[in-house]
Amino acid sequence: MPGAIYAEGLVKTFGDVRALDGVDLDVPEGTVLGLLGPNGAGKTTAVRVLTTLLRPDSGKAVVAGMDVLEHPDEVRRAIGLSGQFAAVDEYLTGRENLQMVGRLYQMKAKAAKVRAAELLERFNLSDAADRTAKTYSGGMRRRLDLAAALVVSPPVMFMDEPTTGLDPRNRQQLWGIIQELVAGGTTLLLTTQYLEEADHLAHDICVVDHGKVIARGTSDQLKARTGGERVEVVVHERQHITTAREVLAGFGKGETTVEEHTRKLTVPVSGGAKLLAEVIRELDGRGIEIDDIGLRRPTLDDVFISLTGHAAEKAVEDNGDAQAAPGAKGRKAARKEAAK
Ligand SMILES: Nc1ncnc2c1ncn2[C@@H]1O[C@H](COP(=O)(O)OP(=O)(O)OP(=O)(O)O)[C@@H](O)[C@H]1O
Ligand SMILES: [Mg+2]
Repeated sequence: MPGAIYAEGLVKTFGDVRALDGVDLDVPEGTVLGLLGPNGAGKTTAVRVLTTLLRPDSGKAVVAGMDVLEHPDEVRRAIGLSGQFAAVDEYLTGRENLQMVGRLYQMKAKAAKVRAAELLERFNLSDAADRTAKTYSGGMRRRLDLAAALVVSPPVMFMDEPTTGLDPRNRQQLWGIIQELVAGGTTLLLTTQYLEEADHLAHDICVVDHGKVIARGTSDQLKARTGGERVEVVVHERQHITTAREVLAGFGKGETTVEEHTRKLTVPVSGGAKLLAEVIRELDGRGIEIDDIGLRRPTLDDVFISLTGHAAEKAVEDNGDAQAAPGAKGRKAARKEAAK
C-alpha cells in the first residue's frame, strides 16, 4: 500500500536544469517527512508537482490515494498547502483572508468567522487581525499564510519552509501546532533548511541535492551513517599527547585524530557517558591533566556536510538572492502554471 504521499521517478526540467531528477517518495499516513536540501535542490519543485501546481515531465505521484495527474481537482480538495512565498491577499485584513479561505472551502459564514478568530489567536495575530495584510511584517505574513493552510484540516498537508523568517518564539509555537496536527492524524511533507527543525518534527528525512534524493532515513539513522559518537579530549600539555593517544586507542573503535596546535584528540567510540567516565579515570591514572573532555554526537549538520559537501546555512549565504526573491514573482509563475 503506498503512503498518503507517494512519488515514483519524478523528473522535471527547466531548460538545462534538472530540478527533479528521478525522485521517489513514500510518506506513510499520519507521519511527517522532512525534505531537506540546499537552495536550488528541488524542494519547492517537488512540492509544486505533488500539489498539482506543476506537471512533471515524467514519473507518477499519488496523494491522498489519488493520482495527481489524473485527478488534480480531487487532490487539491484533499490537501492543504503553505507555500514558500506567502499567498495572502494584501488588500484584505488578516481576518478577511482567513474567512475567505473558509468560504472557499464551503464553510458557513458563522463557522468561517469562528475558525478565523481561533487561528488568529493561535498565531499571535489577534492584535493585527483587522489591519490589511499589506501592513504586516514578513513573519506576520508567513504566520497568516500558515493559518490559511489550516482553516480546514485536510488529511494531507504540504509546508514549504514553514518557519523561514520566523523568530524563535514563533517557530517554537508553530512546531507545537504542527505536532498537534500530526497527532490528529494529518500526513505532512515539510521542506526546511533548518536541520534542527527536521530533527524535531520529521519521522523520516529525505536529503535532496541537485534534484536527487541522496539519503533517506530517520534522523538517528542518518546520524549513525556519519560515524556515531566520539570522545574529544584537550590535554593541558603538548608532551602528553602521545600518552593520551595510547589511552584513547584502548577505548576507541576507530582511528584517533590529533590536532597538535589545539592539543585536541578525537576518537570514535560507543558506550556513551559510562565510557567517558572510564576514559577520564584512565587519563587521570596516567597523570595526564586535561583542559576539556566531552562526548560529542553527530548533529544533522554533520550529516548534511558529509552528504552534500557544504553546510546548510552556508548554502543560504551562497545563494542569498534566491531567499530575497520577491514573492509576487513566484506566485505569478505558480498561477500561470496552474492555469495551464
Ligand atoms: N519556473 C522555473 N523556471 C526555471 N527554473 C526553475 C523554475 N523553478 C525552479 N527552477 C530551477 O530548478 C532548481 C530547483 O529549484 P527549487 O525552487 O525547486 O529549489 P529549492 O530546493 O526549493 O530551493 P530553495 O531552498 O532556494 O527554496 C533551481 O535550479 C531553480 O533555479
Ligand atoms: Mg524552495
